[in-house]
Amino acid sequence: MRERIRLCFIGCGAFCKSFVPLFQKHPDVESVAVCDLIPERSAAYAEKFGVPVIASFEEAIHRRDINAIAIFTQRHLHGPLVIAALKAGKHVYSAVPCASRIEEIAEIEALVRQSRLTYSMGETGFYRAATIFCRRQMAAGHMGDFVYGEAQYNHDQRHFDYTRNGPDWRRVAGIPPMLYPTHSTAMILGALPGVFARKVAAFGYTEKYLTDIFGVNGVNLWNNPFSNTAMLLQLSNGGIARISENRRVAFAGPNTYISQFYGSNACYEFAVAHHYFSSWDPANPQKLRMQEVSQQLLPPSVFQVISEPDGPQKISENVGFWESAPIQPTGRIPESYRQDKNGHNGTHHFLVDDFCRAVATGRLSPTNIWTAARFNLPGLVAHQSALRDGERMDVPDLGDPPADWKVLDPEKTTPGEEA
Ligand SMILES: NC(=O)c1ccc[n+]([C@@H]2O[C@H](COP(=O)([O-])OP(=O)(O)OC[C@H]3O[C@@H](n4cnc5c(N)ncnc54)[C@H](O)[C@@H]3O)[C@@H](O)[C@H]2O)c1
Repeated sequence: MRERIRLCFIGCGAFCKSFVPLFQKHPDVESVAVCDLIPERSAAYAEKFGVPVIASFEEAIHRRDINAIAIFTQRHLHGPLVIAALKAGKHVYSAVPCASRIEEIAEIEALVRQSRLTYSMGETGFYRAATIFCRRQMAAGHMGDFVYGEAQYNHDQRHFDYTRNGPDWRRVAGIPPMLYPTHSTAMILGALPGVFARKVAAFGYTEKYLTDIFGVNGVNLWNNPFSNTAMLLQLSNGGIARISENRRVAFAGPNTYISQFYGSNACYEFAVAHHYFSSWDPANPQKLRMQEVSQQLLPPSVFQVISEPDGPQKISENVGFWESAPIQPTGRIPESYRQDKNGHNGTHHFLVDDFCRAVATGRLSPTNIWTAARFNLPGLVAHQSALRDGERMDVPDLGDPPADWKVLDPEKTTPGEEA
């Protein structure tokens, strides 16, 4: 028997509105409600989506007609809310990041392990086309051993209207970049199942201009001076990864991407809007094959633009943002809510489907707490390393999921996937 989902969204801000219709349409979802600290926001959602309002988070987690909570509050507030919801016996879908403190992530893991409730972190990077491409090439054995990778999330946030969340907005806007590391780590580690970071060394860029947001004299909640941070990771498979989290860089291209993913036998590289795959032919070592794979990885409208002679000049930030790429496994999405228009390059519907299928079948979502911890923990330690001028530090690991808890296949819906 599939468990039916009766879900309440916590946080009716800018991002959540893309997800309400997806949950409403999912065949495993019975009901959807919304909740926000600011009553006008939940009321506006109620009117827009025709859903009931629940007055507070505390009420939502104690209601018997709610069995799942979706956390869409500001990025630094997730951990305690996830913990409270799990303790109240609710399944949890959480926008990224998992949590801002190592102890909170460890507590979430312990609660999920004991309760067997579903926890799924909605990391869009896990389903970005380049991640899927590298994951498939690795799984097929085409790339050999992973050697080195680079990924970055370049998002200059000067355009964010933080003021909407009250007069103290600067204290929150100065969040350390590495407390939000999962878009980039997910793209490297999401292609390397079971691999985790062992050690990290990081350097921060001390902001020179927006010092009323990034600074050490109590201007933000973390006394954080860094607007940009880069970390170098030593991975459990012997490979190395460089991850950058940049919040004040004037880069207007695709903001989240893998730039390099090198294996011993084949490599993926991304250059501006073109994607390349080169592979070594052991039978003919003089010859390195180079193939452009852009058509598989780009939404059709973007591919069309870059294929024109002066195309790349015309690419603006939002071209292709709502579209899927041919490589993404949209065939596994329930027909009833498969959407052509889907945010963060066609990734949202995979994440919602993972959570719903996990609850319904009792299997683990691919972005379960063990995966989420591996995406999140390196960044939390990296910020400490950056504060200590690049000191090399150990990254804790919470291990693999319990062996008797099967993980859903991110590529397809398996017939009879009930646990
Ligand atoms: N690519 C991605 O994965 C991606 C993209 C955008 C945002 N996000 C994540 O989505 C989340 C939401 O982002 P946003 O831009 O919509 O934020 P937002 O500031 O617009 O909205 C957050 C809302 O949560 C509400 N809230 C806070 N605490 C609450 C509580 N205890 N009970 C009820 N409501 C509460 C606030 O009042 C606010 O309306 C963030 O965590 C962000 O990291 C992820």
